Amino acid sequence: MSTFDLNAGATAPLAGETDLMDLPVDGALPPGLEGVLVRNGPNPLRGRFEGNDVLSWWPQPAMLHAVEFRAGRAASYRNRWARTRIWAREHAPHLAADLPDTNPNVNVLRHAGETLALAEGGPPLAMTPGLDFLGTSQRHPGLAGGMTAHPKVDPVTGELMSFRSHWEQPWLRYGVAGSDGQSLVEQLIDLPGPSMMHDMAITGRYSILLDLNVAYDFSMLSRGYRMPLRWHDERQSRLGVIPRHGGPVRWFEVAPCFILHVVNAYDLDATTLVLDVVRYPEYLRVARGGAGFEDNPVGVLWRYVIDLARGVVSERQWDKAGVELPRINEGRTGRAYRYAYAVQQPTNVEMRGLVRYDLESGATQQYRVPPGDQNSEPVFVPRPDARDEDDGWVLVCVYRQATDTSDVVVLDGRELRAGPLATVRLPQRIPAGFHGAWLPREDGTG
Ligand SMILES: [Fe+2]
Repeated sequence: MSTFDLNAGATAPLAGETDLMDLPVDGALPPGLEGVLVRNGPNPLRGRFEGNDVLSWWPQPAMLHAVEFRAGRAASYRNRWARTRIWAREHAPHLAADLPDTNPNVNVLRHAGETLALAEGGPPLAMTPGLDFLGTSQRHPGLAGGMTAHPKVDPVTGELMSFRSHWEQPWLRYGVAGSDGQSLVEQLIDLPGPSMMHDMAITGRYSILLDLNVAYDFSMLSRGYRMPLRWHDERQSRLGVIPRHGGPVRWFEVAPCFILHVVNAYDLDATTLVLDVVRYPEYLRVARGGAGFEDNPVGVLWRYVIDLARGVVSERQWDKAGVELPRINEGRTGRAYRYAYAVQQPTNVEMRGLVRYDLESGATQQYRVPPGDQNSEPVFVPRPDARDEDDGWVLVCVYRQATDTSDVVVLDGRELRAGPLATVRLPQRIPAGFHGAWLPREDGTG
């Protein structure tokens, strides 16, 4: 197993909250880049992780970071722990009873005019782009029971597709909310047992759920594991295809695997779906002797083609290079698309560099990050009034080992290899977290 120190370098948590104005910028921020880049991730309340395995990292309290771009300036930076019951117990016990009992440390979503910090299964927490926290969601009453941190928004209808996967019955619930946040569809889905599901996909007609080889094993808790999740050789990996607004789920068997993140999916024709993912041939396999986990292999870009008429799936590796944290122009979510951006993983403990895949020509471009430095996922920001899918910017946080600080690098979505258009220099690090979002400036916000 790797020796990896979560309390050093890019993953090291912060000990406090900061507000900064007018950050130094190298290069020129593009006109039109108006809004807030928000990042989310785990950051223990005392500024130190208690263990070094991945499961000592994932469940820690949420800290969010916001970098505001306004009128060609990097106008402000702010970081805050999410105001939840967990936070209050350490910092403001008198508030604990009034704050939501959730840990929204994974992702950020704007939907139905509400900005939400998203948890791995728990209820979302409403917030402003400037990181003032507003309690439970007011516009999404159907999410009060919790949901995935990777719901999907249809860019045409505004509908929000989500699921909740749980270790208690019911193990899986699928849902659709309208563009106003109100629940339209709620459906319980039968599974043979509780499954680890982190992400999902949509097409224009269907949603795709992932029931794979990583699942719960509660006997692990008595053996010193902090979370009861592991690879199961005996499980059958399956893709579940459900009509957008509910109905019977059709399960399609695929080769053993685990998928943390979907790239995108779409209807190729009336009976054929394409699903692109980052796929692992195995993940969280318990080490021989039952202490800790084997090193995970790196994940690679992988394509499934689901033939509903013939009832078969074909699958193939798209590229052999290790990648994670894929993102696309979200205006193409669930629709035919051409470009994907992802973090490069030269080894399974490095997130270093970006790759842009042109899935039509097969061409790739890279933005290289030097050894020792690390970077976050790439967030694609469409240029206002853009026509082409890749006409926009890619924002990425790059941790600089030499100075123990982070830069926010702005790249041209069409020309990653040309290097930064602009680099915002922060005087401290944004720890390697999970996901983020671009929140375009709206009147009265940002
Ligand atoms: Fe994720």
